[in-house]
Amino acid sequence: MTDPRMLVIGANGQLGTELTTALSDLYGADRIIASDVSEPAQPVAHFEKLDVLDKDRLHQIIREHQVEEVYLLAALLSAKGELNPMLAWQINMNGLLHVLELGKAGVLKKIFWPSSIAVFGSTTPKNNTPQETITSPDTMYGLTKLAGERLCAYYARKFDVDVRSLRYPGLVSYKAPPGGGTTDFAVDIYYHAAAGKDYECFLQQDTTLPLMYMPDAVKATLDLMQAPAQQIKVRSGYNLAGFSASPAEITTAIRQVIPDFTTTYAPDFRQQIADSWPNTINDQQAKDDWHWQHQYDLKATTRDMLENLAKKRPGDQ
Ligand code: SER
Repeated sequence: MTDPRMLVIGANGQLGTELTTALSDLYGADRIIASDVSEPAQPVAHFEKLDVLDKDRLHQIIREHQVEEVYLLAALLSAKGELNPMLAWQINMNGLLHVLELGKAGVLKKIFWPSSIAVFGSTTPKNNTPQETITSPDTMYGLTKLAGERLCAYYARKFDVDVRSLRYPGLVSYKAPPGGGTTDFAVDIYYHAAAGKDYECFLQQDTTLPLMYMPDAVKATLDLMQAPAQQIKVRSGYNLAGFSASPAEITTAIRQVIPDFTTTYAPDFRQQIADSWPNTINDQQAKDDWHWQHQYDLKATTRDMLENLAKKRPGDQ
């Protein structure tokens, strides 16, 4: 009997790229199947092409590789979702339902699905936003995340599906680019600074948002999935906090390393999305239930991002 396999759906994305590597390091590459709608930029041990809306193909991959655990990361993010709301609904909801149904059928033993700070809306308390609070999202992306959270809680309660979820803040990383979110500025700004360019930001300078450096996001995901089931008290999505910062604060942090870096501001439609999200998040429940603790603050993130981007060759992703 071989060890059960794990499938990452959306493995080429910003989070998928790094989570696939982390899972391979932890469990062995032979147990990890990466999948995405397009071929990966770098070769991975086991890759399957998969459109998450293609239920038959999903079932086939799960059957053929004896997959028992799924990380469903394929999604349309907030900014792209506003440009194509119907597609965001289809991808974000139907993909999740296909996977939850496989949990209900007993084929999948464990499921991870990412939620987001986008479940909150303009009427949510903005500071130290609690786990349980007003969730009335203003974006299609946020709507799908809230509906998805309720589906996860429903399948867990009603059908005993072991599904777990985190409300990620905006993720900052240098390995693979983010795909159309409102928090993309917090990645783009470092790419520009490292390339010796100034940055024109699509948000106002004082727009403070919850952010997290990728190593913390990966660690949170692994910690959550490894915790004993009885410790998982929240089956919708756990609040998760790293640090909070505005574009002006990130600029100041970058200037500690690159003194002549400057940012200009030209807010676009994403400003309204950002304005509907919290400034800071209370993640006490995650700390209490499965001992979550972040490591990277703005300064440490800035240092690591700039160091690693400086090592990347032009043309690297
Ligand atoms: N980073 C995401 C976005 O900006 C939020 O979950 O859409």
